[in-house]
Amino acid sequence: MARRSPLIAVMAAAADRAARALIRDFNEVENLQVSKKGANDFVTAADLRAERTLKEELAKARPGFGFLTEESPAVEAGDGRSRFIVDPLDGTLNFIHSVPQACISIAVEQDGELVAGVVFDPLRDELFWAERGRGAYVNRRRLRVSRRERLADCLIAHGRARSDRPADQTRLLGQMGHVLRHTRDLRRMGAAALDLAYVAGGRFDGFWEEGLMPWDIAAGVVLVREAGGYATGTDGGPVDLATGSVLAGNPHVHGQLHKALAGR
Ligand code: IPD
Ligand code: CA
Ligand code: CA
Repeated sequence: MARRSPLIAVMAAAADRAARALIRDFNEVENLQVSKKGANDFVTAADLRAERTLKEELAKARPGFGFLTEESPAVEAGDGRSRFIVDPLDGTLNFIHSVPQACISIAVEQDGELVAGVVFDPLRDELFWAERGRGAYVNRRRLRVSRRERLADCLIAHGRARSDRPADQTRLLGQMGHVLRHTRDLRRMGAAALDLAYVAGGRFDGFWEEGLMPWDIAAGVVLVREAGGYATGTDGGPVDLATGSVLAGNPHVHGQLHKALAGR
């Protein structure tokens, strides 16, 4: 049976509290679709509100921790060791368009190591959580990466390249074309933290994206590793939160995907 540590319980409770408003906001946003600007502004306000709630709840429970969050300046850790890395709403564009694929992502980094991650999909009520050395779970169920061995059988996810440079876009299209030809299919779901959670849960066999931010990746990386998968940079080296490139997959597929993307 899945037993949550006090740290995971704190992260889950904060996510739950912020999610209540996000669920109301998601239902409301549908009414605003007639005015594009209306939906954008509304979701920006929802995003900021969610971040405020998360910071309040987390700081109350762990006052010494620092913060790296998407919507406000970083806060140094009082203990000099630990910080929360938070995306209050991942999948913003989906949210604006009323596509129900969005989440809250919270990770804990301690002495430069990612040690815990929570990714909460409030619209499906799925709480993905993991702590280093203790396994990964969705709600109360243990998570394992998939066991597919051949890239040809795999469902692979990826996200957009942040860069607007034509060279980057050409490269991405080349990679997408190659992966499309050599796998079962490709998915672009639009919430990187959930993409990683789905790799952890074996729904996707692999995922790659470049140009992400630390809060997009941090929690998902813990989930993938604790579910028995590999998470690296797209170059196959260690994940570097500062460069934001990530390649995740089950142990059979990770290397094959790396090879398939390399040099393209
Ligand atoms: C985005 C999502 C998306 C990814 C983008 C991110 P946001 O985060 O994770 O899947 O492709 O690169 O910026 O803006 O929705 O928090
Ligand atoms: Ca994000
Ligand atoms: Ca965000």
